[in-house]
Amino acid sequence: MCGIVGYIGPKQAQPILIESLKRLEYRGYDSAGIAIINEETKKTSKKSELIFRKDQGTIDNLTSILDNNTISGRVGISHTRWATHGPPSKKNAHPHIDCTGKLALVHNGIIENYNQLKDKLIKKGHEIVSETDTEILVHLIEDNYNGDLAMAVRKSLKTVKGSYAIAVIHETEPDRIVVARNESPLILGVGSNENFIASDVPAVLKYTKRVIYLHNKEISIVNNNSIEIMDLDGNTIERDWQEITWNLEDAEKGGFEHYMLKEIFEETKAIREVLRGRVGEIIFPELSIYSNTIFHGIKIIACGTSYHASLTGKYIFERLTRLPTTVEMASEYRYSEPTHDTPLVILITQSGETADTLAAAREARRRGCRTIALTNVVGSSITREVDDIIYIRVGPEISVAATKSFVGQLITLYLLAIFIAEVLGHLKPEPAKELKETLRTLPSVVERVVNNTSEIKNMVKSLVSAKHIFYIGRNINYPSALEGALKLKEISYIHAEGFPAGELKHGPLALLTKDTPVIAILSKDHTYDKIVSNLIEASARNAPVIAITSESDDEIQNIADQVLYYPDVPSLFSPVPVAVILQLVAYYTAKKCGCTIDKPRNLAKSVTVE
Ligand code: AGP
Ligand code: GLU
Repeated sequence: MCGIVGYIGPKQAQPILIESLKRLEYRGYDSAGIAIINEETKKTSKKSELIFRKDQGTIDNLTSILDNNTISGRVGISHTRWATHGPPSKKNAHPHIDCTGKLALVHNGIIENYNQLKDKLIKKGHEIVSETDTEILVHLIEDNYNGDLAMAVRKSLKTVKGSYAIAVIHETEPDRIVVARNESPLILGVGSNENFIASDVPAVLKYTKRVIYLHNKEISIVNNNSIEIMDLDGNTIERDWQEITWNLEDAEKGGFEHYMLKEIFEETKAIREVLRGRVGEIIFPELSIYSNTIFHGIKIIACGTSYHASLTGKYIFERLTRLPTTVEMASEYRYSEPTHDTPLVILITQSGETADTLAAAREARRRGCRTIALTNVVGSSITREVDDIIYIRVGPEISVAATKSFVGQLITLYLLAIFIAEVLGHLKPEPAKELKETLRTLPSVVERVVNNTSEIKNMVKSLVSAKHIFYIGRNINYPSALEGALKLKEISYIHAEGFPAGELKHGPLALLTKDTPVIAILSKDHTYDKIVSNLIEASARNAPVIAITSESDDEIQNIADQVLYYPDVPSLFSPVPVAVILQLVAYYTAKKCGCTIDKPRNLAKSVTVE
């Protein structure tokens, strides 16, 4: 959500800023802007002059404004906004500028006490022109400015409540960008005689693979050839850069029409990566929970697609570990009442930056729970909020719709459940070995699904004109139904809902007509006959029924209108091939509907505000 980039070095900043900003487009935005310190100005007597441009709309729109009027200068900041306070508009777009016209700031996050600060600043004579919370910060820094930008930023941030990643430049200090963060992501890209700042790594990968992660409540003064990090009191913090192991190609489309499709096709490789080194004797050498730690239960907390992975995790954990497992949405857990139990808390977040999940991690620790994070992003904020970290290792995921990260999360949950079950003695070596063997077969199972998309492409023709689509599943494939529906609605804008199949007759059945397709997920287990009955109930109301089932199912074709088959796997593992089919169903439906797919309207890749 929102993108910040900055450049300082010997080169012209504008093309670098625009290029880097484009690499953050996937995060979702509604406006774009740029500010550069121009040192070659002839128009005024000043040695350097702050110039900025901004508008509602795309980065291409911003580029078209700049085309006739390139801003020359070697230090600059740029921004894509995802409006939280004030609608998308030119005046609300970032950068925001102070009353002197010398200071520019871009911001990601929410300043919670902006109203109180606003009143004070207006009394002092500041003229506020936008409806944003961000602009207050600009005037606050202006108010505290006494010739030292970093000092003014530090002083101002001490009075600010809320989340922020900010980058600030001042025309009288053209040798620096001052940045700071709290809760919203910000990284520093270390170049040679040049440095970069960005909300996320893909923005700087073309220029450098050396990255420093800024932590909460830290500020940094970024010059051409130095990066100084300090806390809000000005105490110096030493931090080395980390080398990023993936390259730009990993974060590019590689011949696919959309990132989403590329990422679905990468799932075979992704599963292998998740399993690498983890299906032998020791599954998670990095984990510090051992047999002497006793848990009476597990709680999994997440948002969105990661929440659906968590729900699947409940079935996996209860099956393998026999520990009672509850699942909560992070946005609900963080405000819930503490109870007497202290379960092992597992937080799942692809990005590691979801504000609600970060707050839930802190709350779980406050309640005395041991915490483990499952995340895809090395060095992300969640890694600093938990006791143990497991990286899901599926590589960068650019499309807003999570696909390979979901599959990676499922595989990690199988591994973690086996690990805990073995530690607790619930799983003997022989069945554990068998489970690991099955996990090893999953890359080829998924490969068969992605290499056989013709049936799916054909089937989606029956979905494109629907206004409502129901997904039903039972037991371990009930969360699959929820995830299938979420995937479809977020990228095709067709209203879809997932239900436990047994719940249909308790209400939703009233909505079924010949225009309401029902997608039923089946696996050959103790729930098979039950869901077949539910499917017949739907058919009896004239709803077109599409069954997703395993290859050895030779009954369903006589009942369902259409059938999509997945390779036979034990039912415990069926959510994996099912997820891939449902992702492809969503993708090809959205494509047929002519949707943008990778950047759905109103959505952002990582939701860094509450
Ligand atoms: C997935 O397709 C969604 N865009 C969204 O629900 C996402 O899964 C959610 O915002 C959680 O993100 P996280 O895994 O990065 O925490
Ligand atoms: N809260 C700020 C605004 O609405 C920043 C939003 C963002 O993160 O892009 O302008």
